[in-house]
Amino acid sequence: MKFPFPKRVLMVRPNGFRVDYAINPYMLDASGTLQSVDEGKAHVQWNQIKQAFIELGMSVEVIEGDPHFPDMVFCANQTLPFWQSEDNVALILSRMHATQRKGEVRHFEQWARELGISTVEMTDFDFEGAGDGIWNYETRELFAGFGFRTDENAYDLIAQIINRPIHKLRLVSENFYHLDTCFAVLRADTAAYVPQAFDDSSRQKLKMLFTHLIPIDIDEAIQNFAGNCVCPDGRHILLQPGSTKFVSLIKQAGFIPIELETSEFLKAGGSIFCMKQLLP
Ligand code: ARG
Repeated sequence: MKFPFPKRVLMVRPNGFRVDYAINPYMLDASGTLQSVDEGKAHVQWNQIKQAFIELGMSVEVIEGDPHFPDMVFCANQTLPFWQSEDNVALILSRMHATQRKGEVRHFEQWARELGISTVEMTDFDFEGAGDGIWNYETRELFAGFGFRTDENAYDLIAQIINRPIHKLRLVSENFYHLDTCFAVLRADTAAYVPQAFDDSSRQKLKMLFTHLIPIDIDEAIQNFAGNCVCPDGRHILLQPGSTKFVSLIKQAGFIPIELETSEFLKAGGSIFCMKQLLP
């Protein structure tokens, strides 16, 4: 039996989105200077992504970004939705690794309170939400990245909270600091991954767990964030343009690519997957 894909998406409007500090390798340009973002362009790109979800028949919830938190638009990170019961969703509130981002979480807690969604706090160990904890929505198994942002120990508590199978994956390359930069579940039996981002045993685990495992070219993953794509329905894949090798592989596998420009967000080290939170 397969569980359904989520129909709701949460996004944070990129108010005050900019690169103010460097907590991943993408936030500095080749000369070591902080990237400069065009906020107007960022709003245009963000709206196109929002529109794409609507066209796929999903409903979009919006939280207004707080300019005190220039990375808040990356709303995969502050929470991890889980099923408290068969069809009742609750949120784990992240403990952000970067000091600069810690305060973002309160905005999500408040939003959840207003909607009557219950929350559970991550207390002892760093955990960056759906940036590192990626659901296979159809099987309700969690793929659990750690090594840079999330502490491996966080998953002991998460396992108790979510009460679903967890597959831990060790990240080994700084360019792939969140699991969502190098791994995407596309449908129940199909995922895409950047082989070089994982240690040997994690690579083996992925090969065992998916019938179809599509390799992502490392240059496309670094330059275009191909691994940060999202497949919200098992059919369409939203991704940054420019990954010709990856696009041809997903087409061969029967998916429909939808290319959406995220140039401004790439400068902060994120693309489409991290700019949304799917709400089951
Ligand atoms: N600048 C943000 C950070 O480094 C980007 C986060 C991107 N989010 C993601 N899930 N990959 O925290």
